[in-house]
Amino acid sequence: MTRSWPILTALLLTACGNSSAPSGAAGSATGVATTCTGFPWCDTRLSPAQRTALMLDALTLDEKLSLMAGDDPDSAANGDPAVGVSDGVPRLGIRTTFYSDGPLGPREGRATAHPAPILLAATFEPELARITAQAIADEVKHKGNDVVHAPTVDVVRVPLAGRTFETAGEDPYVSSRFAVPWILGAEGEGIIANVKHYTANSQEGAIGAPPLTGLIGSRFLVDAVVDERTLREIYLPPFEASVKEAKVGSVMCAYNYVNGDPACSSRHLLQTILREEWGFDGYVLTDYYFAQKDTANSANNGTDLELPFMNFYSPTSLRAALASGQVTEATIDLRLGNILRTLFRYGFFDREGFVPNDNAIDQARHADIARQVAEQGVVLLKNQGVLPLNAANLSSIAIIGESSDRYVGGGGSSAIIPFALITPRAAITQRAGPGVTVRYHAGDNAASAATTATGADVAFVFVTDNATEGADRPCLSLTCPGSAGQNQDDLIRAVAAANPNTVVVLQTGSAVLTPWRDQVSGLLAAWYPGQSGGLALARLLFGDESPSGRLPITFPQQEGDTPTANDPEKYPGVANRTVYKEGVLVGYRWYDSQSITPAYPFGFGLAYTTFSYSNLRLSGRTVTATVTNTGGRAGSETAQLYLEMPPPGPGIVQPPRQLKGFQKVRLSAGASTDVQFTLDDRALSYYDVQVGDWRIAPGCYRAHVGAHSRQLPLNIAFALGGATCP
Ligand code: BGC
Repeated sequence: MTRSWPILTALLLTACGNSSAPSGAAGSATGVATTCTGFPWCDTRLSPAQRTALMLDALTLDEKLSLMAGDDPDSAANGDPAVGVSDGVPRLGIRTTFYSDGPLGPREGRATAHPAPILLAATFEPELARITAQAIADEVKHKGNDVVHAPTVDVVRVPLAGRTFETAGEDPYVSSRFAVPWILGAEGEGIIANVKHYTANSQEGAIGAPPLTGLIGSRFLVDAVVDERTLREIYLPPFEASVKEAKVGSVMCAYNYVNGDPACSSRHLLQTILREEWGFDGYVLTDYYFAQKDTANSANNGTDLELPFMNFYSPTSLRAALASGQVTEATIDLRLGNILRTLFRYGFFDREGFVPNDNAIDQARHADIARQVAEQGVVLLKNQGVLPLNAANLSSIAIIGESSDRYVGGGGSSAIIPFALITPRAAITQRAGPGVTVRYHAGDNAASAATTATGADVAFVFVTDNATEGADRPCLSLTCPGSAGQNQDDLIRAVAAANPNTVVVLQTGSAVLTPWRDQVSGLLAAWYPGQSGGLALARLLFGDESPSGRLPITFPQQEGDTPTANDPEKYPGVANRTVYKEGVLVGYRWYDSQSITPAYPFGFGLAYTTFSYSNLRLSGRTVTATVTNTGGRAGSETAQLYLEMPPPGPGIVQPPRQLKGFQKVRLSAGASTDVQFTLDDRALSYYDVQVGDWRIAPGCYRAHVGAHSRQLPLNIAFALGGATCP
């Protein structure tokens, strides 16, 4: 699904009284320019700050104002080689800056369709984020862009949220550990990463039933009412890590409001936290069109660049704010200085513009990276001896479901048109070999699909959801309206009744309900596995590789079990106000605290072998355990450490356990290895709102180690702050 913003854009432009064609000139320059020569700021011995000061001195006020907003209202729609452009000042050799989406790859023409970030997180292998981001940045560069609007690090509060697939799931620690290498990988390629969406950007909006039609709690309007501790402990950590550890070049402020302020003009978020506390040195740009909601507050509180087009930061608006004294010229210099200094820091002025050239992209290499990641991030949720398949003993396979035979991905600004595609149906057929009959049914009729499945050695049922930016899913079930237009739950049941070896493959962007899970023999969560996902699946199903993904999001038994269910004030909000009443009890923290058993818990995933945990020990703040492969095949295990923390004071809720470390290890049959987790001060701290800082509460702590959030066979207690453990 692709975006349909042109209509919105047209409306916006009409509202702004500006119906002129976009500045195609920016796009037509295609980023080609000479390197810096002949100006004082071209001296590379000077610091970025010094060079910026010299450039600011040379710019007229009109030129400065022209640099504070994008110049093309709909680059994506009109075929520009970018989703956003900000024209430069040719007189001073400042060329156009080009902005690209996104977290799965660029969307200017075709690109390598990497697995969705939720799959990347499911690998529990942060190094793969670095490798993926390098490949994405390389393509962004070869599409002629300078900045990539990624990664998406919003922590999933509502599993229905349309953009869950773009995120790293429901845990801030996982999200942080993937954000940092992603940014370092992209920026190592010379592309400025733009971490998004800052912050509490938790929903797109629910599609209302009559009479409340339209989007309820739309992301453009909703106010996230969230307490400070929850912000600090759940929603901010991935941004904090991006700034402090990865020194990210830019931050995208979100569409929504946070505690009454537009995210793009919140002094608390943009100035106090981002700049003063974290030391952010890059620039803040707005999410497209509707995130910026005013001129003076945004300028005074911390937004540097309006994208994709001038509205609140048009020269006219800024001139008016200057004339009325609401904004000073010093503030304009500060804002623009942040943009220019970042561009200097990344060498933008010292190199030629990147030239769009798809031929310079190593498509085969990138496709292989996408395959490797997919192989590591598919999660085996159930396996009653049906997998892996043994090609030598097979004579027939049934493949059911049209989603087995096409590219499956999420919609919106991160949608990709793949360079190439090997569908699961094609890859399984190829891997099975000529001796195996593969029967296919699109799944549009459950009874005839069951007939196709009858008698096959194994029946795969491929099902999908329909996640997209712009609207949340109406429900978590596979029978939901919009879930590929059919009752996929009934399809699964019918096939499972016809064939005892039925294996369901979910290609979904988030958790889904699996009410038929007791009736099937196998179940895999393949997420949106990207253009090479078919190959990865075939290799996993035939045992060329053992599945090793783990869930970065809880799969509930029923819709009502989720943290934001049963209360419209929590979600989708009432009168565009969403109250984060669950506080820090997000994701598995909620299920643990309410003693709700999920269908498949956070951190869960099977392999073709088994593992055991032993010998837990603590030395200083380092926890060590031994993991042993107790099965008959090689495989990978992700050892996880969850910390049980003492309540810091009356009324301060602590989640029962919080993930503070994970380590993926590959072990041959019978082999053992040690895994180690070091708990630093932050890992042991809670955010004390009274003192406005992180604190280690005196008390008894317990580190739990094991295979997932609900299987933690080892634990060890230790006391801090002069306390003792019972
Ligand atoms: C999305 C951003 C995206 C931007 C540009 C917005 O609608 O929220 O994530 O980067 O569009 O496509």
